[in-house]
Amino acid sequence: MSDRRTLVIYHSRTGRSASVAEAVAKRLDAQIERIDDQDAFTGFGSYFSGIVASMRHQATPIATPKIDPADFDFVVLVGPIWAGRMSCSMRGYLNCRRESIGAYAAFMTSTEGKPDRAFDEMAELVGRPPLVTGAITVRDVLGGKVAKKVAAFAEAIDSELTSG
Ligand SMILES: Cc1cc2nc3c(=O)[nH]c(=O)nc-3n(C[C@H](O)[C@H](O)[C@H](O)COP(=O)(O)O)c2cc1C
Repeated sequence: MSDRRTLVIYHSRTGRSASVAEAVAKRLDAQIERIDDQDAFTGFGSYFSGIVASMRHQATPIATPKIDPADFDFVVLVGPIWAGRMSCSMRGYLNCRRESIGAYAAFMTSTEGKPDRAFDEMAELVGRPPLVTGAITVRDVLGGKVAKKVAAFAEAIDSELTSG
């Protein structure tokens, strides 16, 4: 059992990223906090307004996070892809907490499974790239493949952090 203190931070509008985040937290014995975007982008038409907002790199105002990432050795960011990028709520979180994040990994959920632009944007905001990345499609979430993908992601984190 590692004594690494790990924090999982996630945004999830429809529950897919939440299921991944919970599995990651369980596997890494981590604390977990959901980004509280105060129910932004939940009403009628929110899918389309979310696409437009993310294309414009907008950041959703979020409630002040309860847990400080600076108290942790490692952070894992989990969220959906919006318009090929990270979601507005993850952007909102990083805008207020990026300076407290040291080494981190990131895992994205999406329809198409093309997360690279979201990871690039994270690297730009945090000031360094994620040490380990992972991704899963909605189809695989619904097909019961979360546990397998998360196990591979967590093993890559363990190996990266023990070899470094
Ligand atoms: C506003 C918005 C924009 C999206 N844009 C993309 C996209 O560009 N590419 C993609 O593959 N999936 C896209 N999706 C699908 C989500 O990434 C996918 O449904 C994700 O798993 C949702 O995660 P959640 O249930 O945790 O909110 C988008 C969804 C929303 C709501």
